[in-house]
Amino acid sequence: MATAACEFASPGQPSGTAAGAPRSRWGTSPVFTPAHASVGDAVRAFFGARPDARQPFEFSHQIHLSKGVLCTDCHTGVEQGPVAGLPSINTCMICHSQIATEKPLIKTLTDMQTTGRELDWQRVYGWVAGAHVRFDHAPHIRAKVECSTCHGNLAEQTVARRAVDMNMSFCVNCHKSKQASNDCLTCHY
Ligand code: HEC
Ligand code: HEC
Ligand code: HEC
Ligand code: HEC
Ligand code: HEC
Repeated sequence: MATAACEFASPGQPSGTAAGAPRSRWGTSPVFTPAHASVGDAVRAFFGARPDARQPFEFSHQIHLSKGVLCTDCHTGVEQGPVAGLPSINTCMICHSQIATEKPLIKTLTDMQTTGRELDWQRVYGWVAGAHVRFDHAPHIRAKVECSTCHGNLAEQTVARRAVDMNMSFCVNCHKSKQASNDCLTCHY
């Protein structure tokens, strides 16, 4: 993979090649194809067209974190595997069947549960499928990488905002400094 790594040192800048024989930006790797050449554009277009997620409920991280609620109370999968998980209405109601039940927003929540409606949270982070990036929370949590390194300080956010641009150099620079693998296939499929 060393050759591919050099090839990728300047993303978006095709290295000099013999005239008429453009080489894939994926270098000599047999795994990837040149179809990825426009992924960056696709990602920018994707998020450009949808700058802020619109959530179905006025949720506040700040309120919950100031009351000592833990990330893992709502994002229950984050220590176990790849996916942190977004809370279903039933998860909210584990607490709110008892907590703040007189508040209008909690009444709305209770009504939604009673009538079988779900909270369809829109995703904030992530890449288009075409980027072929794989991510796994668990090894990062085991290695004690803070949530805030990748997501900013949620105690200052209501609904989550993209506070950190998780581009490739963000990932690769930390992997280099922590001696984690920078093999292309660690993060790509
Ligand atoms: C530690 C994780 C990680 C490693 C290792 C890694 N990548 Fe990436 N790569 C990413 C992420 C994340 C993105 C998506 C960035 C984005 O869309 O903003 C990406 C995007 C890309 C893109 C599309 C970039 C663009 O601008 O369109 C290419 C091409 C790519 N990687 C090639 C490689 C190659 C070749 C290697 C091996 C030398 C490699 N990557 C290793 C995380 C990684
Ligand atoms: C090393 C960076 C990193 C760290 C540390 C990290 N995350 Fe993430 N998180 C990501 C990336 C990247 C995604 C998008 C992954 C995807 O869509 O494939 C994500 C997605 C999420 C999501 C939505 C998708 C899902 O997995 O359900 C939640 C919720 C989340 N993170 C919560 C947390 C919490 C809570 C912590 C700390 C316990 C944390 N993250 C730590 C990088 C990180
Ligand atoms: C682990 C327990 C717990 C879970 C799970 C939980 N909450 Fe809360 N929530 C609280 C606490 C504690 C407060 C603060 C109550 C207070 O100030 O009296 C709160 C406050 C709120 C408030 C503010 C009420 C007001 O008007 O002051 C809203 C809205 C809310 N939660 C919605 C949700 C939603 C939506 C979910 C699920 C995504 C959820 N909560 C999950 C414990 C929880
Ligand atoms: C009381 C429940 C609750 C707690 C506690 C909580 N979250 Fe969330 N989180 C949510 C809900 C609901 C969403 C979906 C709405 C949104 O995007 O804000 C969410 C979304 C997110 C997202 C955006 C994921 C994506 O890609 O769509 C991240 C990142 C995140 N939370 C990180 C954290 C971190 C880090 C903590 C702890 C510091 C935390 N959350 C604590 C309920 C919670
Ligand atoms: C702040 C440092 C840091 C950042 C940022 C970071 N990582 Fe990591 N990553 C680590 C560490 C440390 C490990 C654990 C290595 C180990 O267990 O030996 C790891 C492990 C991984 C693994 C599992 C590797 C394996 O061998 O199982 C994947 C996949 C991964 N990271 C992808 C990513 C992607 C994609 C990004 C960018 C969105 C990213 N990482 C950002 C530090 C980081």
